[in-house]
Amino acid sequence: MSQNIVNARVTFRNSPIHVLEQFTIKDMDNAYDQFKKHSGLDECVIIQTCNRIELFGKSKYHDPNKIKKTWASLTGLEEEIFNENIEFVENKDAFHHLLKLTSGLDSMVLGEEQILGQIKNSITSARETKASGQHLNTLFDKAIRIGARIRNSSGIGKGGISVGSMAVKLAEENVDELKTKKTLLIGTGEVSTLVAKSLNRRGYSFDVTSRTISRSRMFCETMGGNPIKFEDILTRFDKYDVIFVATTAPYFLVTEEKITNAMKDKNKGIMILDLSNPRTVDEKVATIRGVKLMNLDQIAEIVEKNMNARQNKVKEVENIINEEVMILEASMKRLDAEPLVKEVFKNIESLREKELRKALHMLDEKDEKKIKIIDELTKAVVESIVSTPMNNIRKASEQEKSDLVNLATKLFDYKKQDAAD
Ligand SMILES: NC(=O)c1ccc[n+]([C@@H]2O[C@H](COP(=O)([O-])OP(=O)(O)OC[C@H]3O[C@@H](n4cnc5c(N)ncnc54)[C@H](OP(=O)(O)O)[C@@H]3O)[C@@H](O)[C@H]2O)c1
Repeated sequence: MSQNIVNARVTFRNSPIHVLEQFTIKDMDNAYDQFKKHSGLDECVIIQTCNRIELFGKSKYHDPNKIKKTWASLTGLEEEIFNENIEFVENKDAFHHLLKLTSGLDSMVLGEEQILGQIKNSITSARETKASGQHLNTLFDKAIRIGARIRNSSGIGKGGISVGSMAVKLAEENVDELKTKKTLLIGTGEVSTLVAKSLNRRGYSFDVTSRTISRSRMFCETMGGNPIKFEDILTRFDKYDVIFVATTAPYFLVTEEKITNAMKDKNKGIMILDLSNPRTVDEKVATIRGVKLMNLDQIAEIVEKNMNARQNKVKEVENIINEEVMILEASMKRLDAEPLVKEVFKNIESLREKELRKALHMLDEKDEKKIKIIDELTKAVVESIVSTPMNNIRKASEQEKSDLVNLATKLFDYKKQDAAD
């Protein structure tokens, strides 16, 4: 390949988060400017997330030391620290890595969706600031499309779910017409937030209670739900059909006695999902008629199984990536011949137009219909002569037959190669 695609990266795989953070690039516009000026790269794209800082670049000749030096000057880090943390790959390996990124295979949470959006944002801003050009734009557009396709066909992103969402899903599976049922969430912490988000997403209304009503109110302002006083709830569980409990209370908040009382006046069943560890719902509650209890261990086991389903897809995704890398590599190699092919087509077209004008002038032709026929005739002649050699040049570039590409460059008197690079 006459152009090289390089990837330099510091990620969670090699570096703990506190080290990784030091490599963060703060001023992106300045970074693009510096990389293009000093690192020998003439195109670049930076991907930066909480788990990785990655640079993709294009150049004819690149020097990893210049890349390190530029990155070091942007972060104020010593160059030595790069040696322990940075990874360099190029061309086929860089394509392979980018496809792993877009398909979610290199993510900390296998198959997670967020990275695809982050990569889309990276190439969009590189495009806007003209940090990227034809090679990286093509590479990223293709890699994003391939990544999305791999995700859809393999289902690698499916089944990833938080304990909060899983609890809501289990309630949906076990309670008929959940939308018509009264739901209570006990707790306003991290896990309760996940439950509330999931309830909201699915359009369920719910009450929220916490030891202090002000905390419940604050929680409901951002997470939705109706705040209810804690004291009112503990003796009125009969009002509810589904109860999510996620607190760090060191004793049972939901006791056998309270639920037995609640069930006395209730002609419907009740489902309780205890997400707390240690439990805050007494296990004996499960023995009361009409009560279905699920605890954190059971919910976490189902979450784990879902994640295992993703793990099982890894081999399948790797196989698709290996096939796609070859196709991607071929189209990137073809790209090398594009400036030459474009220039030849442009020159021939201007010659055709010039000769056409001359001929029409000599014929003194005014009839639009005839002019159109002559115009199309010349186009067809040019097309039939030029398209085969042009496709052969592209093919030669794809097969890295540089002799043939160089010969074509000479034959077509193509001089602008360096300017077009
Ligand atoms: N975080 C996780 O990744 C995770 C995952 C699975 C399970 N869990 C378990 O889920 C439970 C909640 O975790 P979290 O991360 O949401 O905790 P958190 O953010 O610290 O919130 C704790 C919640 O428990 C309430 N609480 C504390 N002591 C209480 C008491 N004596 N009576 C009533 N409510 C009380 C707090 O209410 P106040 O506003 O009144 O303090 C708060 O709403 C824990 O048992 C935890 O082990 C956590």
